[in-house]
Amino acid sequence: MGYRIRQMRPSDAVAVVRIANQAFLETARLTSLMGRRFVQRMKGDRDCLFVAESDDGEVVGFVIGSCKGGRATIGWIAVHPGHQGRGIGGMLLEAVEGKAMERGIRVVETGTPFARTFYEKYGYRCVEVRRSMLLELVGREISIPQGLGIRVITLHDLDEVMDLIGDEGEWLRFLDAYFSAYGRDAEKAIVVSSGELVGVAIGETDEVCGELVRLSYLFARDEGRAMDVLSCLVYVASARGCRWFGVELPVKGVTEEELESQGWEDAKLPFLWTRYRMRRELG
Ligand SMILES: CC(C)(COP(=O)(O)OP(=O)(O)OC[C@H]1O[C@@H](n2cnc3c(N)ncnc32)[C@H](O)[C@@H]1OP(=O)(O)O)[C@@H](O)C(=O)NCCC(=O)NCCS
Repeated sequence: MGYRIRQMRPSDAVAVVRIANQAFLETARLTSLMGRRFVQRMKGDRDCLFVAESDDGEVVGFVIGSCKGGRATIGWIAVHPGHQGRGIGGMLLEAVEGKAMERGIRVVETGTPFARTFYEKYGYRCVEVRRSMLLELVGREISIPQGLGIRVITLHDLDEVMDLIGDEGEWLRFLDAYFSAYGRDAEKAIVVSSGELVGVAIGETDEVCGELVRLSYLFARDEGRAMDVLSCLVYVASARGCRWFGVELPVKGVTEEELESQGWEDAKLPFLWTRYRMRRELG
């Protein structure tokens, strides 16, 4: 069977969402997210949006790319499982790369959790690993490290927290996380103390998966106690019956080795995963 690449059209909406669902299987079946992304991109510059069509006119793959600010990006790419391994993914990449070349762009980048080998086959190399780690809380004994106390941060505590954090940039990062958690997740913003303040940590329930809490901010007065501060927040999440706790590294004072020794694993959830940033220089 032969395939050709053509520009994506608004009438491809159902095919694109269906292919995303079929191709990503359990790793990221996000119909609503995909559908909204499709509409958003259709309203803007459509130049780097392509589908692959079989001889009989069936849409079997798509790529959502973009060319902005001197670089091209592959956002999503997927090929229906019944047509994978026939070079269609490569043709879709080539379509975006061709558009980039036309615009004088010489760098294409993407972030991928699953398809590193696919990109490597087509000349991309990994330039950065953004590791995420996950702890499954169900069935695990989780306790507050000895000698530490936890309390939820209220607005009245903020002066004390500001004294703990000190640095202005760091303080603004804290406030950003604090106020974004404030509405939905107030109980997941905690101070940890043992007489004096040891640190603060903030977690947020994932937007898509209500069973996943992600670390959004952590600060420990002494970096050597960062892991204890994290453990306190994990305790809060587990007391609320959440299933998973995730962190995107790096987190100051928290090492991969330490996490691994406490049962944390590489994240491979549909909502949280280790990402590989891939880059290809064109021309
Ligand atoms: C990744 C994907 C787009 C490749 O499409 P394709 O048409 O099968 O790609 P090609 O035929 O051009 O290239 C196949 C190569 O990709 C790699 N590959 C194939 N399936 C793969 C998968 N599920 N995951 C990672 N790499 C894969 C292999 O290196 C393969 O080479 P080989 O045939 O020599 O072994 C397709 O497998 C897919 O839709 N996967 C699920 C969605 C996904 O992971 N998208 C990208 C991440 S955002």
